[in-house]
Amino acid sequence: DQTQAAELERTFIAIKPDGVQRGLIAEIISRFEQKGYKLVAIKLVVPSKEFAQKHYHDLSERPFFNGLCDFLSSGPVLAMVWEGEGVIKYGRKLIGATDPQKSEPGTIRGDLAVVVGRNIIHGSDGPETAVDEINLWFKPEELVNYTSNAEKWVY
Ligand code: PPS
Repeated sequence: DQTQAAELERTFIAIKPDGVQRGLIAEIISRFEQKGYKLVAIKLVVPSKEFAQKHYHDLSERPFFNGLCDFLSSGPVLAMVWEGEGVIKYGRKLIGATDPQKSEPGTIRGDLAVVVGRNIIHGSDGPETAVDEINLWFKPEELVNYTSNAEKWVY
């Protein structure tokens, strides 16, 4: 049925150290919850620089790579996995464009951030990176399978 189909798609979302320090955790989680997506994993961690380099390995040739890895490992990060129909692509839509100067109002970065180096949140950019990032940040047993009461009203 539709509920089962909806359970298949998952994405990795992280509130970066700036979002955590600015007290935006509840605001950001609310946007995913209110949309109708389901939280299936969550933890607060301070990633090491080596871990940040793994997370951003695709960007190792970029000039901002070192600064970005220093930044991600500079404090607590709220790592999450969200589930639901279209959550990878629509999650990116909720987040908004990479550069907050170009993110639309109504998006998380558009409403809550000003510059690209402090853009408060990360979301997987496609199905393959979603799987890789979920596996990097979480052990299988940290992903919680459950039925939420809301589901039959969302789908
Ligand atoms: S790409 O590969 O060109 O599409 O890059 P993009 O998706 O725009 O960005 C990839 C991640 O790099 C971060 N980024 C930056 N950080 C610091 N300074 C600069 N100038 C910069 N440009 C891009 C961007 O926020 C992305 O990280 P996440 O964590 O996914 O937001």
